Amino acid sequence: MKLRTILLLSFLGWKSLVVFGNNEIKSGEIWKDDTGVHINAHGGGVLFHNGRYYWFGEYKSEDTSAALRGVTCYVSDDLVNWTNQGIALAVTDEQGSDIERGCTIERPKVVYNSKTQKFVMWFHLELKGRGYAAARAAVAISDRVEGPYTYLHSGRVNAGQLPANMNREERERMDKLQPDAYKEWWTPTWTQAVKDGLFVKRDLEDGQMARDMTVFVDDDKHAYHIYSSEDNLTLHIAELTDDYMAHTGKYVRLMPAGHNEAPAIFKKDGTYWMITSGCTGWDPNEARMFSAKSIWGPWMQHTNPCRGDNHRLTFGGQSTYILKVEGKPNAFIFMADIWRPKHPIDARYIWLPIDFEKDVPVITWREAWNPATYWK
Ligand code: GAL
Repeated sequence: MKLRTILLLSFLGWKSLVVFGNNEIKSGEIWKDDTGVHINAHGGGVLFHNGRYYWFGEYKSEDTSAALRGVTCYVSDDLVNWTNQGIALAVTDEQGSDIERGCTIERPKVVYNSKTQKFVMWFHLELKGRGYAAARAAVAISDRVEGPYTYLHSGRVNAGQLPANMNREERERMDKLQPDAYKEWWTPTWTQAVKDGLFVKRDLEDGQMARDMTVFVDDDKHAYHIYSSEDNLTLHIAELTDDYMAHTGKYVRLMPAGHNEAPAIFKKDGTYWMITSGCTGWDPNEARMFSAKSIWGPWMQHTNPCRGDNHRLTFGGQSTYILKVEGKPNAFIFMADIWRPKHPIDARYIWLPIDFEKDVPVITWREAWNPATYWK
């Protein structure tokens, strides 16, 4: 805070912060950290630990979304004022390293494992110079929440494993699919083949693709990795091992050929709610919402939860995470990114409270709101 502001506040009283709006979330605006710089934590997620919120995200540069620094971390007590903790996971200059500077690191999410007492970071990794071809899930760990994180490994997911929600008949149908027979994409027969597992079969040996992702820790401490697989056409929900550092091999497919990205999930009163986007790259599209009584499904689709200005384009953003506000029952914040592909560092954030209409989540556009007073 500048000296002038401090003097003004001591004159007017600290309550005047309310008037100046320092305790409000203003989606789409510049969000300055403690050093006065716009927060650089895109495609992020938030971990609540020891009474504080830790926000992890992609560091973006002036003219590239490639990872030139790594994953950033910010800490806050009130979800409005954020202190920059620096780089939690740094890229390296070692040539050929998976996380060589210039690779692509997207949508990092950190969870805490109480058994191992390690912080585990998962992210979507693309190798330097290879566009989006690698489609890998990557993991890094640390003993301290803010890092530094040590990179462990990356790869495709669940090699050799068939989805748990495919019955015998469906497996036989998939077995019969001939990849060469579907040279032309986006035809009705191709869509049906994707639904039937065309790409699951293609990637069975080397592992399934994993791009846009989140990680969810359930009440029973089981963790799940949820990611866009099968050329972004189908979401997979995959169980993580007890230490959260690998996959167990159990996974289900969600909305085959439904083209969902940017998964964000929360649980309320025993129901899992997932909000996703369609696939239009950096451009916004209409949010989708699903619910299930078990993480393994069946999942049911609902209508777009967004209301108000620009609700058909998710207010100009794309989902990234749903944050549970601690100490308040049923208080959740929908987090999204407004991408700026020509000037990536200038990408903005949308954080809006989730309301419930007859128990169904609704997200209404608000210019400004105060997370300290929003929930009674
Ligand atoms: C989006 C995706 C982002 C990023 C981008 C690249 O659809 O959600 O995380 O991968 O495409 O174009």
